[in-house]
Amino acid sequence: MTSAIRKFIFHDLQTIEGYIDPPDALVFLSLLQGQKDRSLGGAIAEIGVFYGRSYFLLRKISGGDEKILAIDLFNIGQTADGVATQYGRFLENGRRLGLPVDEELVIKGDSTMLEPAQLTDKIGKIRFFSIDGGHMLQHVVSDSRLAMETLADHGVIAFDDTFNPAWPEVTVGVADFLRQCGGAFSAFCMTKYKTYVCRREFHGLYSDLIANSADLAAFDHVETEFLGSKVARLHNPFSRRMVYELMVRSGMSALSERVYR
Ligand SMILES: C[S@@+](CC[C@H](N)C(=O)[O-])C[C@H]1O[C@@H](n2cnc3c(N)ncnc32)[C@H](O)[C@@H]1O
Repeated sequence: MTSAIRKFIFHDLQTIEGYIDPPDALVFLSLLQGQKDRSLGGAIAEIGVFYGRSYFLLRKISGGDEKILAIDLFNIGQTADGVATQYGRFLENGRRLGLPVDEELVIKGDSTMLEPAQLTDKIGKIRFFSIDGGHMLQHVVSDSRLAMETLADHGVIAFDDTFNPAWPEVTVGVADFLRQCGGAFSAFCMTKYKTYVCRREFHGLYSDLIANSADLAAFDHVETEFLGSKVARLHNPFSRRMVYELMVRSGMSALSERVYR
């Protein structure tokens, strides 16, 4: 099963316009499989779907029988007659990949206007919440509160674009969230693009899971500290990123998987 998902990560993912790349895809895989191995149940949710790159990865990893809620404005490409092209392309990607979107589990609208019950009424408590919607402080403050209030005790929140100088308010929002929740949540993993947090009681479990995941063995695990907790920073050397990009661009995406073993 893992090999089929790795094939998806290193082949199909590149066919969907969007932003998640192999290191974070492998972290998603490790966390979701680690939760399953430990019978840590719950649904999955994402704010900020775009054309579904990370959403379809979540679908692929979870194997089709789990509830995955997709939340987005879906207003990209809106023409004068009010029709946006984003949603149609999202649905089309699902058909093409053999992962048709369950439209009952799509919320079209502004995530900052949602109440927790609008999520939990559809999917129950959430074990993995990807936040990649609006990138200004108000969005991150609101989305992190929504995630906190809908998360299972053992749930993980993945914040996108942390420490990215293009989106400085995301970092402020995540730091504010961690400080204002009075130590209830702590970060346990960081990549170049994302920061992963959980409730403090589960910090040890998720730190061990990241440290021991075979799918993450290719990365340097560098211990760092963020707002009072130890964090594994997964470093992906420039040389590997370059070889990977060259392979993908020269049509060798099937072989590119070996670069990350
Ligand atoms: C960076 S893209 C998400 C990338 C996606 N996760 C991927 O894997 O390719 C950001 C998305 O957030 C959505 N978005 C922005 N502000 C939002 C809001 N307030 N509520 C819901 N979605 C929002 C945009 O429509 C866009 O599709």
